[in-house]
Amino acid sequence: MVKIVISGALGRMGTTIGRIVDEAPDLELVGGVDVREGTLFGTEVVPSVRIDEFLKEKRPDVLIDFTVAAAAVENIKAAAKNNVALVVGTTGFSPEQRETIRGAVEGHVPAVISSNFSVGVNIFWKLVREAARQLGDYDIEVTEAHHRYKKDAPSGTAKTILEILDQELGNREKVYGRVGETERKGEIGVHVVRGGDIVGDHAVLFAGNFECIEISHRAYDRAVFAQGAVRAARWVSGREPRIYTMQEVLGL
Ligand SMILES: NC(=O)c1ccc[n+]([C@@H]2O[C@H](COP(=O)([O-])OP(=O)(O)OC[C@H]3O[C@@H](n4cnc5c(N)ncnc54)[C@H](O)[C@@H]3O)[C@@H](O)[C@H]2O)c1
Repeated sequence: MVKIVISGALGRMGTTIGRIVDEAPDLELVGGVDVREGTLFGTEVVPSVRIDEFLKEKRPDVLIDFTVAAAAVENIKAAAKNNVALVVGTTGFSPEQRETIRGAVEGHVPAVISSNFSVGVNIFWKLVREAARQLGDYDIEVTEAHHRYKKDAPSGTAKTILEILDQELGNREKVYGRVGETERKGEIGVHVVRGGDIVGDHAVLFAGNFECIEISHRAYDRAVFAQGAVRAARWVSGREPRIYTMQEVLGL
């Protein structure tokens, strides 16, 4: 049995992951962490100030973190200190926070960190890379849409799209929305929509003369991310202590 603690246990992703772990015969949900105490499918959820003692008491194999960037950094440090493997889906990290995470994880515990745990998005990223290789001289626009409660923008998935485009095309200027007089040059346009209960839409448009190609992905239920995170939790336990991508988990 792989023992799992979820941080952000009372949030949208935390409760969705909790249900999947609770129903899996090979996994054991041993508790959760959030800003306040509560319960998750019959297990105890403790305030995050108690994470260190909670991990010592419950001795999980994996901590799955879907919180907010600042909180995730602290939770990751606590997990690494207690020799607990990690699956991190939280987005919105600054470059400094990424460095802190790298320092805490590398050489200490295995961690799968991904801005998107859906299988479809990981394939979508590959398609975007291939299109960028072939269509580098087309105009490129990235669009993403999420629910009204999403805290960070652009989404972590959109930032990963931009990283892939940078890797393939060099560092192009990014223009975040346009207003007033604008003249298109070689920039990549980035557009963010927030509203209702949209789970997560991403599209990359390659526009040339007389034709456009659009590669897009739409998530209909956050269970798709939760299932991917649980798959990563099964995979990560017992690996070499370093950071892994979801592409590695999927063998892509
Ligand atoms: N990688 C992916 O596939 C993927 C998919 C969906 C969402 N996300 C990301 O996951 C994160 C959570 O998304 P959500 O929709 O569940 O948000 P949410 O606001 O519903 O849940 C976040 C939870 O974290 C809790 N939290 C805040 N500080 C904490 C702390 N110090 N310790 C423990 N818990 C703390 C909050 O109280 C809340 O319950 C966001 O960063 C989002 O972008 C990633």
